Amino acid sequence: MSNIVEDIINAKKEKNAVILAHNYQIPAIQDLADFVGDSLALAVKATKVESDLIIFCGVDFMAESALILNPEKTIIHPNPKAKCPMAAMVDVEGLRMAKKKNPEATVVSYVNTTAEVKTETDICCTSANAVKVIKSIEEDTILFVPDSNLGLYAQRFLPDKKFIFWPGYCHVHQDISVAQIQDLKASYPIAEVLVHPECSPDVIDIADFVYSTEGMAKHCASSDSKEFIIGTEEGLVHRLKKENPDKTFYAISDAICPSMKKITLENTLDALRNLKPRIILPDEVIKKARAPLDKMVAIGRQD
Ligand code: 13P
Ligand code: SF4
Repeated sequence: MSNIVEDIINAKKEKNAVILAHNYQIPAIQDLADFVGDSLALAVKATKVESDLIIFCGVDFMAESALILNPEKTIIHPNPKAKCPMAAMVDVEGLRMAKKKNPEATVVSYVNTTAEVKTETDICCTSANAVKVIKSIEEDTILFVPDSNLGLYAQRFLPDKKFIFWPGYCHVHQDISVAQIQDLKASYPIAEVLVHPECSPDVIDIADFVYSTEGMAKHCASSDSKEFIIGTEEGLVHRLKKENPDKTFYAISDAICPSMKKITLENTLDALRNLKPRIILPDEVIKKARAPLDKMVAIGRQD
C-alpha cells in the first residue's frame, strides 16, 4: 500500500470520517472510499452514515446535496474546483425568468444543479429516477433543467406531458458518438451496449439498455452476458471490473470528466487533515433546497 493511501486510512480513522465517492472517481479514491455509488445512492447514503464528518469525493453539487440533506453534518469537498459544467448551465435568475414565462410548469431539476437553482425547483431527479419522478407529477407541463438529453429521454416514456427543455448538456456524454459505439459493436459483436441517459438521442437509439451508473452496475452483475460496452464516463469501468472479475468491459475512449478527476489522493489527504474546504450554504438556501431533494429521495430508484 502506498504511503499516501495509508496516511488517508489513518487520518480517516483518527477523525472518524466517512469517505463517499462517485462512480467516476479515480480508481485509488474508489478503492479507499467507504461507499461508492451514483448521485442518488450517494445522496441517500449521506443521510444514513453515522459519522458527523463526510469527505465527499465527487463534484460540487453532490457535496452540496449531502449538506442540504444533513445540515448538522460537516461535509468536506477536497477540491472546490471539481465543479460540474452542466450544473453551471442554469443559474437561478435564468430559471426565475423561465418560470415567469411558463407559470403553469412544474420545475424538475436534475440533481446536477446548484443549491440556489434547487431553491426554485419543485422536485429534483437523478438519472436513476427521472421518469419515475415526472410520472409522480399531476400537472401536465414540465420545465426540465438543465440536461436536455435526460429530459428528451424521459419524454419518450411520458408522451402525455408537455416538456419545456433547457439547452443544457453534459459535454462528456454529448461527445460519445454513434460512430464510437458502432465501432465497438463491430469489434465486440456479442457485447451488450449500455449507455447513460445523458447521451444524445441518436446514441440512445442504438443502445441495448439505458441506465444511471448504478443501474449499469446492477445490470452487469445480474446479466448472463459476459461482455459490455459502457457508454458513460470511464471511471465506472474500474468498479465494474472489480465487481465482475469474470466479465469484460469496453470503455469509450476519451469519455473522461476532468471535473471528477480533480479529486486526488493528495487533496483528499489534505482535506482530511485540515477539515477543509468545507461546504457552507446559507441556512435559507438549505431550507428551500431541501424540499425538492427530500421529494426525490422519497420517490427512490427506478433502475
Ligand atoms: P449518475 O447519477 O448516473 O452517477 O450520473 C451522475 C453524473 O454526473 C453523470 O454524468
Ligand atoms: Fe457533470 Fe458530465 Fe462530469 Fe457528470 S460527467 S459531473 S454531468 S460534466
